[in-house]
Amino acid sequence: MEQYVIKGGNPLVGEVEIGGAKNAALGILAAAIMTDETIVIDNLPDVQDINVLLEAISVIGARVDRINRHKVAINGSMIGQVSVDYEFIKKIRASYYLLGALLGKYKRAEVPLPGGCNIGSRPIDLHLKGFKALGANVSIRHGSIIAEAEKLRGKHIYLDTVSVGATINIMMAASMAEGYTIIENSAREPHVVDVANFLNSMGANIKGAGTDVIRIRGVQKLHSTEYSIIPDQIEAGTFMFAAAATKGDVMVKNVIPKHLEATTAKLVEIGCEVEEFDDAVRVVASKRLNSTHVKTLPYPGYPTDMQPQIVVALALAQGTSIVTESIFENRFKYVDELTRMGATIKVEGNSAIIYGTEGFTGARVSAPDLRAGAALVIAGLAAEGITVVDDIVYVQRGYECFEEKLRSLGAEIERVTTEKEIQKFKLRVG
Ligand code: UD1
Repeated sequence: MEQYVIKGGNPLVGEVEIGGAKNAALGILAAAIMTDETIVIDNLPDVQDINVLLEAISVIGARVDRINRHKVAINGSMIGQVSVDYEFIKKIRASYYLLGALLGKYKRAEVPLPGGCNIGSRPIDLHLKGFKALGANVSIRHGSIIAEAEKLRGKHIYLDTVSVGATINIMMAASMAEGYTIIENSAREPHVVDVANFLNSMGANIKGAGTDVIRIRGVQKLHSTEYSIIPDQIEAGTFMFAAAATKGDVMVKNVIPKHLEATTAKLVEIGCEVEEFDDAVRVVASKRLNSTHVKTLPYPGYPTDMQPQIVVALALAQGTSIVTESIFENRFKYVDELTRMGATIKVEGNSAIIYGTEGFTGARVSAPDLRAGAALVIAGLAAEGITVVDDIVYVQRGYECFEEKLRSLGAEIERVTTEKEIQKFKLRVG
C-alpha cells in the first residue's frame, strides 16, 4: 500500500503547471467512441481514473493508441460489444458515461449500476429519467442498467437537481437522437461546456452549454476531430490552497482564471493576495488566514470538490468558520483525521464548524477519498513534523505527479511503501 510521507513546515514557493481536467476528460473519452472515425485528444491527464476508462473503452473493442502521456487516438469503429464490465464501473463511477455514448450511437447500452461511493449516496435516477425521456427502455437486470431504443427522439427534459453527470450523459445520447432536445436546469460546470465543445467539434449541434438550458439538435453521424482538454480547475484550486495553508507564494500556470473565480474569491476573503494573469494565477499568503463561511454549490458556486481543501486552510485561520456541504451528504469523513493533527472541527448535519488553531502537528492519517486525500496532504505540508498519509491510491486517481509537483515548490514529500522507507525519509529530513 502506497503512502505519502511528509515533513511539514516549508512554505510552498515557485511555479506549477496544471494538467488537463480529469472530469472533462472522462466525458470526452466516452464521447470519443460515438464515431467510427479517429479522434485525437490532447492535454489528457495521466491519472488512474483516465487510464481505467481508456482500458474499459479498449475492452469493448475500440482502438486506443496512446501517442504520448497526454495524447491519445481513439477509434470506435470496431466496437463489438455494448456491455461494460463491472470491474471498470467499480473502479470509476464515471464509466457510466458509456451509457449515454453507447446508447446514442448504437441505441443500446449495458452498464453495471455504480456501487456505493464514499462521499454519500450518489443516485443516477436523473440520467435514467433523461434516457427514458429520449424514448429508451431502461431496465435493471442482474445489477446492470440496460438502456435500449429503436430510435431516440429529442425531448424537453427538466432535471430536478443540477447534476453534472446527468447533463453530460443526456447531452451525449441526445446528440444522436432524432430532433430537438432541451435540457432545463442543466449543470453549468466548465467540464460540461468542454464536453459540449468536443461533441460540437465532432459535428454535434449543441447550444447553450454553460447556461442552465442546453439545446441539442440531433445529428445522424459524428466525425473525426482533434481536441485539447481544458485545464483542471480542481487541481489548480488544490495548489492555490496549498500555497495559502503553508503561507507560500505559488504561481499556478496553465489555468483559465475565470473557472477559478469562486476559489479565488474565498482565498481573497481569508486574507491571501491573488493576482490573475491570462492563463495563470499567483497566490501569496504572507500572514495568518482569516475565518469565513462557505457553502458548496453547483458552478459558478464554490465547488464541493474544493471543500476539504478550504476546511484545512480555515482550520489554521484566526476565528471560527462554517463550511456547509450542500451537494454530497457524507463529505466530512476526513475531519476525524484532521482532528488527529490538531484541528478543532465539529460536524453538525451538513455543516462543519471550524475553530481555527495556530498550527497542526504531523500524524498518521488515512485518505478517505480523492479530494480529502489531497487536503490531508496540504495539512501535512502545513504541519510541524512528520505526517504519513495512507491510502493515497485515492489521490492518484485524480492528481498527476502530485508529489513531484509539490517537491518542485519546496515540499518535503515522498511516496513510500514500507516502514523502512518512512524511517529513511525521517533520517534524511532530520
Ligand atoms: C461530478 C464530478 C464530481 C463532483 C460533482 C459535483 C465527475 C466525474 N465527477 O460528479 O467530482 O463532486 O460532479 O460537482 O465529473 N444527483 C441525483 N440524481 C442523479 C444524479 C445526481 O440526485 O441522477 C444528485 C447527487 O446525489 C448530488 C447532486 O445531484 O447531490 C450533484 O451530483 P452530480 O453533479 O451528478 O455529481 P457527479 O456527476 O456524480
